[in-house]
Amino acid sequence: MGRAASKEVHAQRRQRVRDRLGDGVLVVGAGHAPVRSRDTHYPFRPGSDFYYLTGLAEPEGVLVLGAFEGGEMLFVRPRDAEAEVWDGRRPGPEGARARTGIEKVASVRDLADRLPSLLDGHRLVYAPLVPGDPILAAVLRAIEVLRRQERSGRRAPATVADPYGPLGEERLRKDAAALSALRTAVAITVEAHDRALAAARPGGHEYQIQAALEGAFRAAGAAGPAYGSIVAAGDNATILHYVENDGPLRTGELLLVDAGAEYDGMAADLTRTYPLDGRFRPAQRDLYEVVLRANEAGIAAVRPGATLPEIHDRVVRVLAEGLVDLGLCEGPVDAVVETKAYRRFYMHRTSHFLGADVHDVGSYRLADGTPRPLEPTFVITVEPGLYVPAGDDSIPAELAGTGIRIEDDVLVTADGHEVLTAAAPKAVSEVEAQVARARAARS
Ligand code: GLY
Ligand code: MN
Ligand code: MN
Repeated sequence: MGRAASKEVHAQRRQRVRDRLGDGVLVVGAGHAPVRSRDTHYPFRPGSDFYYLTGLAEPEGVLVLGAFEGGEMLFVRPRDAEAEVWDGRRPGPEGARARTGIEKVASVRDLADRLPSLLDGHRLVYAPLVPGDPILAAVLRAIEVLRRQERSGRRAPATVADPYGPLGEERLRKDAAALSALRTAVAITVEAHDRALAAARPGGHEYQIQAALEGAFRAAGAAGPAYGSIVAAGDNATILHYVENDGPLRTGELLLVDAGAEYDGMAADLTRTYPLDGRFRPAQRDLYEVVLRANEAGIAAVRPGATLPEIHDRVVRVLAEGLVDLGLCEGPVDAVVETKAYRRFYMHRTSHFLGADVHDVGSYRLADGTPRPLEPTFVITVEPGLYVPAGDDSIPAELAGTGIRIEDDVLVTADGHEVLTAAAPKAVSEVEAQVARARAARS
C-alpha cells in the first residue's frame, strides 16, 4: 500500500466520521482476498473504507464506530503461530492496538458475541447494502439477537443505512495526508508513463508497455495499478475498458495508455495518447487537438461552485465544434449537442471523483437532486475522448479506428484548481518530443 499515513491521521478521520454519525453506528470491514483459482487467492487489498480509517491492511478486520463507550472498537484475527508460518504475520489485537491507538481491540472470532452490545440502544446502523456482504450479515444477526432480547430491555436498531452518506462526505474532502498520498501516486504514475514509452515501438506489443508501467509502479513503492491498466493501440483504443493489452503495435497508429498507481490507499488515474512512431499524422493531430482543447476547456471550468454537468457540457461543446469542423458530424454545432449526435464518438461522461477508489465515493447530487457544487479539496478527473469506430465507410479512412483520450486529475482549490497530473506532457509538440526522447534512450 506504500507508506501509511500516521496513526494520528487515522484517528482524526475516525473522529470526523463519528461526528457525522449522530446516534448511528458504522460497521466497516476489511474483507479478504478473493479466490483466484482453487486454493490460490488474489493479493489482498483492504477495503478502502477500512484502510482509510485504520491504516491497517488486515484481512477480516472489522471497525465499529459510534456513540458507545470509547466510540470505537476494532476486531482483528488473533495471533496464530502456525497460520502465520503459512499465510503471513498478523498484528493480533495487541499489535493492532499499538498500531492504531484504538483502545478496544478484540479477536474477530468474538465479533458475533460483541456486536449486539455495540448496537444496543442505537436506532440506526450503517453497513454495506450489498446482498451477501458478510458485514451486513453480521449486523443483521446482531439485530436479530437484540430483537429477541427487547423484553429484557435491549433495543435493536430500526434502520440499516448506506454508509456512503457519512463516509462518502468525509472521503470526498481530502485531508493533507490523503492529498500527499495522492500526489505521490500521481508522481509515480507520471514517471511510469514516461518510462513505459521506451517499450512503445512498432513491432512490439501492448503487454510490453503494460509490464513496463506496472513494473515502474512497484519499483517506485506503489502497491500496483489502481485499476486494470488500459494499453490500447490502433482501434483497440475505441474500446473504453480494453484490458486485454495483447495487441500488436503498428507504425502510424496511436497508443492510448490509461493507467494509474495506487499509493497508500490513494489512486491516480491518468490517460495520455501517443503517436507510436513519434509523429502524429495530420488527421490524427487534428482529432487530438480537438480532444486537447476539450480537456483544457473542462479543466478551466473547475472551481468551487462548478458542477460536473457544467464541466461536461463545456467539454461536449468543444468536442461537437471539432466534430463538425472535421466533418465527422453534420452541423450546426447546437444541433449536434442537442440531438446528442456527438455520442457516436464520445459516449462517456467527463469526470468522476477520485480518491481511495478510482471511481470514488461521494454523492454526485444534493438531497434535492440537483448536481453537487464542487468544494475545495475535492479531486476529480477531466477525461474527454473521441473514439472513431473502424469499419464504417462514412468515416475518412485516416481516422477510422482511432481512439484518443486525455485524462487529468484535478484538485479543486479555494480559488480554482490545480492540475495534479500537470507534469505529464499533452501538447502535440511535447508528446512528440517525449516519444522521441524515449526512443533515443532505448537506442
Ligand atoms: N481508468 C478509469 C477511468 O478513467 O475512469
Ligand atoms: Mn477516470
Ligand atoms: Mn482513466
